[in-house]
Amino acid sequence: MIRASLLALALGAAPMGAAYAQAKADLVKRGDYLVNGILTCGNCHSPKGPTGDIPGKEFSGGLQFDEPPFKVTAPNITQDRETGIGRWTDAEIKTLLRTGVRPDGVHIAMVMPTGFYHIMTERDLNAVVAYLRTLKPIRNKVADPIYRMPQVEHVFPGGEKPYTESMMKDKVKKGFYLATIAHCMECHTPMEKGVRRFDTRLGAGGFEFPGPWGVSVSRNITSSKTKGIGGWTDAEIKRAITQGISRDGTRLKPPMGYHYYASVSAEDLDAIVAYLRTVPAKE
Ligand code: HEC
Ligand code: HEC
Repeated sequence: MIRASLLALALGAAPMGAAYAQAKADLVKRGDYLVNGILTCGNCHSPKGPTGDIPGKEFSGGLQFDEPPFKVTAPNITQDRETGIGRWTDAEIKTLLRTGVRPDGVHIAMVMPTGFYHIMTERDLNAVVAYLRTLKPIRNKVADPIYRMPQVEHVFPGGEKPYTESMMKDKVKKGFYLATIAHCMECHTPMEKGVRRFDTRLGAGGFEFPGPWGVSVSRNITSSKTKGIGGWTDAEIKRAITQGISRDGTRLKPPMGYHYYASVSAEDLDAIVAYLRTVPAKE
């Protein structure tokens, strides 16, 4: 009897184990697609050389942001237990991504776009964490953050609650979802008195980014036919996003992560364009 049930267990366990391994592999693959694509995590967290991300050092700590409210460095998010997030639990990583609160209770600076991740589906959030777990540990301690006032996050309007998989069946909704987790509108909406005007200037551009490239200014990506991209073809919009080439053929400057967006699937790009077409024109 005991033998028979053990055998049954063994027989039953084998296919279940395989299914589990497959589900896990699918989740990691989805996380890889998101992190290294639409989410552009490495755009901030990977150290840069003259030709972009330094190979073999990805996610080990990157850009420094020195602004009036804070001086912070994008930390090491590899699995190193001392200098990375190897000791964090899955729940701690998820809380950080969704709320900006670290395990020690400190709210991090809003350069880390957590206000755009509240919308993330449960599955995508799990996928990101599963992928982060596969990053080989790299030892690199970044400078401790300096906060000149308590930090807050601004949750992107319409992105307050996690989306469900069924909401993603609607093309425009899916496009809104993808553009939100890509924080497109954070860069493409101007600030007035320290507040991003998502209410009145959504997508109007005009925000400045100083860097080694000089100063780039985000452009109008509303459906305005004269000032925005309303008169562009779908192909022209996709080329700008994935290759960094404007409508007139000129090369666009950083910090937009064109080379990350190059791996976004054709279907997802279609959805993003469908959503951009619905953004009310701003002059
Ligand atoms: C626009 C730049 C930017 C992007 C994009 C970005 N981050 Fe961050 N991230 C930061 C900065 C800066 C901090 C540190 C903020 C601070 O110390 O207050 C941070 C903090 C973190 C932390 C906390 C680590 C610690 O040791 O405290 C984690 C985890 C993290 N980011 C993961 C991610 C993941 C995963 C993605 C992609 C989904 C991502 N980040 C996208 C800039 C960014
Ligand atoms: C980190 C900031 C940042 C993020 C995130 C970002 N952009 Fe941009 N984007 C810019 C800047 C800055 C420029 C202008 C670069 C230049 O003038 O050389 C630009 C240019 C563009 C252009 C070209 C417009 C033109 O007139 O040539 C399009 C289209 C665009 N972005 C769409 C998007 C979409 C869609 C997303 C999200 C998937 C996105 N951007 C995410 C900063 C950003």
